[in-house]
Amino acid sequence: MTQYSSLSTVKPLSINDLAAMKRRGEKISCLTAYDASFSMLIDSIGIDVMLVGDSLGMVIQGYNTTLPVTMDDMVYHTRCVSHVRRRAFVIADLPFMSYATPLMAAENAARLMQAGGAQMVKLEGARIDCVSFLFDQGIPVCGHLGLLPQSINQLGDYKVQGKERLEAEKIIADAHQLEQAGAGLLVLECVPAELARKVSTQLTIPVIGIGAGVDCDGQVLVLYDMLNIGVSKRPRFSKNFMQDAADIGQAIAAYHSAVKQSQFPASEHSF
Ligand code: KIV
Repeated sequence: MTQYSSLSTVKPLSINDLAAMKRRGEKISCLTAYDASFSMLIDSIGIDVMLVGDSLGMVIQGYNTTLPVTMDDMVYHTRCVSHVRRRAFVIADLPFMSYATPLMAAENAARLMQAGGAQMVKLEGARIDCVSFLFDQGIPVCGHLGLLPQSINQLGDYKVQGKERLEAEKIIADAHQLEQAGAGLLVLECVPAELARKVSTQLTIPVIGIGAGVDCDGQVLVLYDMLNIGVSKRPRFSKNFMQDAADIGQAIAAYHSAVKQSQFPASEHSF
């Protein structure tokens, strides 16, 4: 709590701050957050970005996919996070089917920003139509390529994406298109480290990896996975930061410092 009060005069990070971090080679640390208590702790430790992920469907609600998560769920959890935020940049996921058309994307993104207090919204896939429409309305967008959990019923399995040459080329091309359409950030999930390195080097916008190797501009993990309290098995690309920590604050601080010093992910967390 003391740590937290000392942040009360701190200005929230903006998308420009994250872009500047990429330019000066400073790694961006990001964790998922879903409630006020964890968010206050994460923010006080200095994590740069809090992502209100639709992974909440799995770790908070106990479903085995993110598909049941609704817009009402996302607005509620985004509000819980954003109203205690002091410094961290807040991104909220647009859930399954909430961006079937650009107009739906804009209406739902507006809810996440107006009622939820998000600074940016994230959507999965090469939805250039939606990204470009949102950009024109002044809505900051984070793209998400590689493993797309909202498409799990099409994919059949949570597995590494972009291992084949054509698949890898498509991910690179999609990343460029998202940047050109106005995306301000890109999440790359579960792809070979070498592919993620290429994308991060070629794009101007920051690329945040999860299971994408150490050469991304930043890293994100699902909070409950790195605290080892998830309801399902921790993915190979995550790490139990509680193992050597006396408490949750220490585990989050160890993750933050490992990301900043490019010590996480190690090769055993990469593909
Ligand atoms: O929903 C989520 O937590 C995410 C991360 C896995 C990137 O999208």
